[in-house]
Amino acid sequence: MGWKTLDSLNFAGKTALVRVDINVPFENGEVSDFTRIDAVLPTIRDLSEAGAKVVLMAHFGRPKGQVVPEMSLEAVRPALSARLGKPVSFASDCIGKPAKDAILAMQPGDVLLLENTRFYAGEEKNDPMMAASLAALGDVYVNDAFSAAHRAHASTEGIAKLLPAFAGRLMAAELKALDAALGNPQRPVVAVVGGAKVSTKLELLGNLVSKVEYLVIGGGMANTFLAAQGHPVGKSLCEHDLADTAREILEKADVVGCRIVLPVDLVVAREFRANAPHEVVTVCPDDAMILDAGPASVAALADIFEDAHTLIWNGPLGAFEMEPFDAATNAAARTAAELTKAGKLVSVAGGGDTVAALNRAGAADDFTYISTAGGAFLEWMEGKELPGVKALED
Ligand code: 3PG
Ligand code: MG
Repeated sequence: MGWKTLDSLNFAGKTALVRVDINVPFENGEVSDFTRIDAVLPTIRDLSEAGAKVVLMAHFGRPKGQVVPEMSLEAVRPALSARLGKPVSFASDCIGKPAKDAILAMQPGDVLLLENTRFYAGEEKNDPMMAASLAALGDVYVNDAFSAAHRAHASTEGIAKLLPAFAGRLMAAELKALDAALGNPQRPVVAVVGGAKVSTKLELLGNLVSKVEYLVIGGGMANTFLAAQGHPVGKSLCEHDLADTAREILEKADVVGCRIVLPVDLVVAREFRANAPHEVVTVCPDDAMILDAGPASVAALADIFEDAHTLIWNGPLGAFEMEPFDAATNAAARTAAELTKAGKLVSVAGGGDTVAALNRAGAADDFTYISTAGGAFLEWMEGKELPGVKALED
C-alpha cells in the first residue's frame, strides 16, 4: 500500500485535476448536508495555496450517460464556493472546448468545477477515450473521492493511469483511519453490523468473522440469525430463507473463535410506528415485531466495548429512525463515544444511516473517525480492493 500524497510534489503552476465526491443531499433546492463538501476543502485549499489551478471533477446523481439538467453540478457550486470562502467558476462540460477554455481563463490558485462526469456514458464504462479526454485537461491527477473509490469509472480509475496520480487529504485520512481499524488494528476488535437485511451484507459478515474478535449483529439482520437459531420472531422483519446461510456464518465464527453477539432481550411492538406501545421481552410474541434491542443487550454491548480496543461500526441496532426504537443504537453510540474520549477505544464508523444515527445520538464528534463513504466503506469492510484506491498505488 503506497501512494503519493499532496506532500510528494510542488504543485505550483500545475493544472491539478481533482476528483471529489460532492454527491450531496438537497432539500427544497438547497444543499442540506455539507459534510462531503467540507471534507474536500483541505485538498482544494492546499492545492490552491500551493499555486495550482484546481480543476474539480465530480458526479452528481445517476444521470446514466445523459445530460439531465436537474443533475447539473452548477447547483452545488454556490455551496462549494461559500464553504470554501472563495469564488468557484463553472464549466458547462467536463471535457472538450468548454472545459479547456475555462481552464485557460484560470489563474494559479483559482478553483473551477467541471460539469457532471456522468453526463457521458464513458464515465461509468471507464471508457479509455473518456479517461483520455479528462486527462488531456491537466498535468496531474488527485483523487480525493474515497466514497466513490468502489467505482471503476473514467474519473476515478482510468485517468489515474494516464497522469501522475496523488491521494488527496481526505483520501489519505480515510485510508489511514480504515487501516487502523481493520488493516493493523489494536485487538480485541469489535465490529457492529446492523441494518435491515442480511442479504445485503452477507459478504461483509463472511469477511468479518475471520478478522474480528466480536461481531455484533443488530437491526433486522439480528432477527434472521435469531430465527435461524430457533427463536420465535413473530411478525418481525426476517429473511427466513437465509436461515442456512446464517447458520453457516455462526459455524464459521465458532471455528475461527469469533464471538457473534445477538440481542438477549428485545423491544417489541404491535405496530411499526414511532411511539407505538412496546414492551421488553426475551421471547418475541407471535403477534409482535422486534424493533430494537433491549436494555440487557445494551449492557452486554457496553461490556464488550470496554474489553475491545478497536470498534468498527456499520448499521443501526434497531429501527433508529423512530423513537423510542433508537434507544439501543443511541446508548451503544454514547458508550463508544465515551470510551473513545477516554482514550480506551479507536472507533470508526461509516455508511449514510450509521452516520445519521451517530449524529442523532450526539456521538459522532467523539468517534475517532467517521467515514464520508457509504458503499465504498462497506466494500472496504468486505475486504474488497477498491479500484479507485488501487489505481493510486505506485
Ligand atoms: C455515493 O453517494 O454513495 C457516492 O457518491 C457514489 O455514488 P453512486 O452510488 O451513485 O456510485
Ligand atoms: Mg451509493
